[in-house]
Amino acid sequence: AAGSLAQAETGRLIVVSNRVAPIEEGQPTAGGLAAGVLDALQTMGGLWIGWSGEISAEGSRILPEKQKGKIRLQTLDFAEADYQQYYRGFANSALWPVLHYRSALARFSRSDYAGYRRVNELFANAVADALAPQDVVWAHDYHLLGLAAALREKGITNRLGIFLHTPFPAAAVFMTIPVHADLARALCQYDLIGFQTESDRRAFEDYVLREADGHLLPGRALMAFGRVVRTGVYPIGVQTEEIREQAEPPADCPQMARLHRSIGESKLIISVDRLDYSKGLNERFLAYERFLEQNESRRGSVTFLQIAPPSRSDVETYREIRLELEREAGRINGRFAELDWTPLRYLNKGFARQMLMPMYARADIGLVTPMRDGMNLVAKEFVAAQNPIDPGVLVLSQFAGAACELKAALLVNPHDPDEIAAALERALSMPLSERRERHAEMMAVLRRNSLTVWRDRFLGDLKGRA
Ligand code: F6P
Repeated sequence: AAGSLAQAETGRLIVVSNRVAPIEEGQPTAGGLAAGVLDALQTMGGLWIGWSGEISAEGSRILPEKQKGKIRLQTLDFAEADYQQYYRGFANSALWPVLHYRSALARFSRSDYAGYRRVNELFANAVADALAPQDVVWAHDYHLLGLAAALREKGITNRLGIFLHTPFPAAAVFMTIPVHADLARALCQYDLIGFQTESDRRAFEDYVLREADGHLLPGRALMAFGRVVRTGVYPIGVQTEEIREQAEPPADCPQMARLHRSIGESKLIISVDRLDYSKGLNERFLAYERFLEQNESRRGSVTFLQIAPPSRSDVETYREIRLELEREAGRINGRFAELDWTPLRYLNKGFARQMLMPMYARADIGLVTPMRDGMNLVAKEFVAAQNPIDPGVLVLSQFAGAACELKAALLVNPHDPDEIAAALERALSMPLSERRERHAEMMAVLRRNSLTVWRDRFLGDLKGRA
């Protein structure tokens, strides 16, 4: 069944990701993955399998399916040990830092890796129970590198694809994971591996060619570990029209009225990130401090709003970054604040999209400076939310996947506080005509590489090629 295009076209879509998104309107969604998958499934229908977010005393278990509109939801509870070793351990203490070029922060253990494999097998059991011969399986992100291998061991031959939302690092960095060869072998059990950017795809290809004895076949395919695996670049996009609509809230929206009242005529710089060391928050705070040092005349008339919902707070490195940011935010405000002015507003909570999009639209600058990021959808959403008549300016890290497409942003090196400070001043004094030109250029890219295009291209390649 898996070999025939006609049959593959008639099968169901089964999406597997570590988390499923909150389906109810108005709930904050963490990260770009949930928003992208939710949209694909709401349009096409299908089954979504993921963790319930719960730890169960009864051990890991597959819960009964639920129907939410066109989506069937199948969630799994984790046993405490599975959560600790798979999610907190291997996925977020070993893989995440290495994929973001931060090997020095990685904590590896064999038992965590055993837990990672065990949970990938658990997900494979849930998929296998639901799978019909023509169905295609679309796995997401670094939590599920071993899912295809677990399914193949059960004799499953359906089309299996994975999209990696994070970066894929240079081979030498990937090899700092002690089980890198095992992971690469498992990954090659997929039929299609999708990356955010060409440099991520090349890094994987380079690893397979140099370290795993693979060789190139025509059409971006690789022969490795006795299998043919295809690779492709599918930059995840956003729905520009929906975002623009959300960005114009009803005139009587009380929360927006509060923001307007408290910001007044002040220039607004906005940043929204999960509280993660890959996002460059500390470096950004220091760059803002540098900006205030260098631009005395801006003091009192600019506000930097950093929204940073806590994330993975039981991982040590995340606790450390949180403490560090609390200290830095306090220090910078203590140094510059006046009776009637708070230079930096630091909020440790998430907001629903219906609130965030109007905030983006009100902002003069979107400051998006991750040290490394697979894509960064905040950058794209900020652009899409702007009023084209009077748009704000995007200041964007050159190390976000989005920088490959949003070349009309002010691109900066997040390691360089002086460059970020200069970009902030340049953005604040940018003439309207230049702001409009840059915005129009970025909107053209966003319309071309929409969320629908991302989904259709990936699934087309997964279903369509033998
Ligand atoms: O979008 C990237 C991502 O890492 C997703 O895989 C993940 O679900 C999201 O960020 C939020 O992280 P977490 O699920 O660990 O809270």
